[in-house]
This record gives sequence, C-alpha cells and structure tokens, in this order.
Amino acid sequence: MNILVVGAGGQIGTELIPHLQSLYGEDNVIAADLKKENVDRLQEFSRAVELDALDVKNYREVVEKFRINRIYNLVALLSATGEKNPMLAWDINMGALINSLELSRSYNCSLFTPSSIGVFGHSTPHAGTPQDTVMRPNTIYGVCKVSGELLSDYYFSRFGVDTRSVRFPGIISSGALPGGGTTDYAVEVFYEILQKGKYTCPIPENTYMDMLYMPDALRACTDLMDCDPALLVHRNSFNVTAMSFSPKELFTEIQKHISSAEFTYEPDPVKSEISASWPDSMDDSCAREEWGWNPEWNLASMTKDMLSEISKKVSR
Ligand code: SER
Repeated sequence: MNILVVGAGGQIGTELIPHLQSLYGEDNVIAADLKKENVDRLQEFSRAVELDALDVKNYREVVEKFRINRIYNLVALLSATGEKNPMLAWDINMGALINSLELSRSYNCSLFTPSSIGVFGHSTPHAGTPQDTVMRPNTIYGVCKVSGELLSDYYFSRFGVDTRSVRFPGIISSGALPGGGTTDYAVEVFYEILQKGKYTCPIPENTYMDMLYMPDALRACTDLMDCDPALLVHRNSFNVTAMSFSPKELFTEIQKHISSAEFTYEPDPVKSEISASWPDSMDDSCAREEWGWNPEWNLASMTKDMLSEISKKVSR
C-alpha cells in the first residue's frame, strides 16, 4: 500500500502521518503540502513533498512517482475562514477534490476526503441528527462539503472509484492547531488557560456541538478505509461523534482540574450563527453498525489528557 496525504501540514494530517506510518510502514506514506514551511516540518519525521493540489499536472506526477494507491485528501479552508472569502473556499475545497477524484479514477486509488458537521443547517433536526436527513447548509464550507459528498458518491457509482468519508465534528488535538474553524474554541481554550489562566469564548455558552478527540479521529480515517467494502451501505459520508458539549460544560470540566480558570464570553457573530445552525448531537449508529466505529474518548478523559499534553508544550 502506497499512501499519499494531501494537505498533510494541517491539524489532522500532522497526526495522521505517524498513525499511517505505524500501520503501513514509514516508507509507504508520503506527506504533501502546499507550504514550504509545512513540508520542512513534515520532513523531520516523514517522506514529504511540496504539492499544490490544484495543480493537476504536479499532483499527477506525485501519484505516478510514488505509485500511490490510496489518497487522503485533507485540503480545506474551514467554515469561519470560508465566510471571509467564499469564492476562494469554493476554488480550494472543490478544486482539490475534483483533482483527487480524477486521479483516483485514472490510477485506481481509494480516496478518503473528510466531510463535516458543516453539511447540516438550520432545517436539519438538531438532536440525534440522523445519517440520512436534510442537508441545506448556510456556509460556503458546508455547500462544498455537501457537493463533495455527492460528487464522491457519483464517482463511486458511475466509475467505481472507492471513495469513503466521515462527517467530522470538531476535532480536539494537542498537535498542530486547527485554523479558521467554528469548533476551534475547544482547542484554543486549553492553550489560553494554561498560559494566561483565562479565556474569552467566541461561541455562546449554551451552544452544543459534537466533538472527537484526535486518537478517535485517526482510527475513523483508517478503520473506514480498511474495512471490507461489502459491509458498506453508505459511503459519503458517515456521521461520527464521541461527545457533545457546550462551552459551559467544557469549561466546568477544565475547572475540575484548574479551579482558578476564568471564562468570559464575547460571541463572534459569524461563528455564533454557524454554530447555531449545526447539530447539537449526531446519531452515528450507521458508522457503528456498518464498519464498527467505536470511539474511546469522552469529555472527562479528553480534558485530562489535553491539559497534560498542552502543559508539556507551553512549559517548553
Ligand atoms: N471543525 C470544522 C469547522 O469548525 C468543522 O468541520 O469548520
């Protein structure tokens, strides 16, 4: 198996690379990123190349050179950043996807492209959001992700390309920072509390959103891609979640460890609107039934681990 991770320098890719290396061998994983500084960082622990996923010629050369047969397409502009420049978000998110789909079709690669809770909108049931339900998002990020799910299923049914995907909720991690997402607060808070003792939250205190801790997110990426395709009723894309909490609940959990931590709220209008349109909690039973999704981390265990990991980082 030769695996290419495109957009590898981001929050997910930085930790997916070592996870893939441990499962498939170091030589069989290639990290690709647009930014030279990310490639330099990735080269410290992996085979890494500079690649603009929108440049199909360059992308094809990398797929051919390394005889790639599985692609993780992690290229994305996230929800809050997307609203600042919707056309750029469309070009990047859809451009990287269509090139990944076309190259997967030509070179017989399996393809994983994350979808998101961003596919849902105000008209979606917010409690126990079903796998198959209304998807009418009101962000450009969500519009791209719904389009991406449809295109990926089309490439599977029309051309037989082995496309699979999960709808990631907010991902909490201690490696690379997320950037430009609505759920980023749940990562930022740990750095701010450990460095300054206080945090001002851009999301209203009682807004619930689904979340995953990174080790569970990584297992979702590989368990789904490695499962027997005969098991799959759905493909693009599966609801996955491990916990659902509001800022207030997360901060109460942090205060169990750091009682002096102070929290205030200054809701950001764009992030508040986006978070209000997303599910409070998704139903991920299809993922559990079809390919054995079974997350291990919850709010309490994640908070304890994040505090320990981020303490090590900020005290350096
Ligand atoms: N974490 C993403 C965002 O907030 C959701 O997919 O944009």
